[in-house]
Amino acid sequence: MRRHVLYPMMAAIIVLILCATIIIGERSGFFLNPAKDTESEPSDDKLIVVGISQLGSESVWRTANTESIQNALSRENGYFAIFSNARQKQDNQIKAIRSFISQRVDYIVFSPCTEDGFENVLAEARDAGIPVILMDRTVNVEDDSLYVAHVGSDMKQEGIKAGIWLEQELWKRGRNEEDINIVILKGTEGSSAEIGRSEGFHEISKNHPNWKILAEVDADFTNTKAKEEMGKLLREFSDIDEVISQNDDMTFVAVAAMRSRCITTGIDGQVIVVSFDACHEALTMVYNGTINVDIECNPMQGEYVSQIIKKLENGESVEKENSVDEVVFTKENVLESLDSRAY
Ligand code: AHR
Repeated sequence: MRRHVLYPMMAAIIVLILCATIIIGERSGFFLNPAKDTESEPSDDKLIVVGISQLGSESVWRTANTESIQNALSRENGYFAIFSNARQKQDNQIKAIRSFISQRVDYIVFSPCTEDGFENVLAEARDAGIPVILMDRTVNVEDDSLYVAHVGSDMKQEGIKAGIWLEQELWKRGRNEEDINIVILKGTEGSSAEIGRSEGFHEISKNHPNWKILAEVDADFTNTKAKEEMGKLLREFSDIDEVISQNDDMTFVAVAAMRSRCITTGIDGQVIVVSFDACHEALTMVYNGTINVDIECNPMQGEYVSQIIKKLENGESVEKENSVDEVVFTKENVLESLDSRAY
């Protein structure tokens, strides 16, 4: 072939190859992010799709729990997470789970607002072949094959810890024979956190006829409800010796309500305060002596959930019950954890 024909043909072929490379590169996003590390960021079709039904955003603890699961199930870690906040309404959770089923997600992670009422929707998930992992709270179901695993706290054990702490404290103060008037601000009625903590505490209190439980009220784990309920309790009873508040958010308003009536709390105060969760602000109050004891409920559950999913993906078996580590904080041991507490 003559040179004047061959050279223009070769040039045209080179131009065509270059154009094709640019088009393919742009479509794949290579030119937008040329440094993209295909090893650490899996392509969409390799991501594990997880529907997360969080029960709400009612407390500092819940926010930390949401962050924990969202960080663990991130895209960089190989997940495509669809998040839904039920705003503490069971209907919203049921709708979210049904929507995850119709989207054919690979897994459902679910933090149930209450123990009862999820049997049917969990059966629907199982029939669709979607494994469900319970996070934080549990459900009350006859057939426990409706979920593959639970990651969370032993709530009853937390209640027992509160009771045992009180036994020892009253003994130390020489008040173990005295009548002790107790009021309990409970979390959401029917939730496993409320049921477990109440049962655990009662297991110990039943051995102490001198512990007089004046009232147990539902304050829904929220500061708004707790403010209302604590106000009523303080109007009704003038002789409260101890407040047991089933989460820190409720404790903050309970302490504030007592202070506004010139009632002192904590180590040198008139009223003993027992709290649950152990978030930073509450631990600071333990350190200051305004709260006597905080029974930790550990919200950092995301990594545990991710490990369970990874095991299931590899065809390995998983433990049904996975309890997170938890500590009882008093003025004696709180300082070492205060700085590192991120929530
Ligand atoms: O289920 C865990 C409890 O729920 C935490 O104690 C509380 O703060 C949250 O709302």
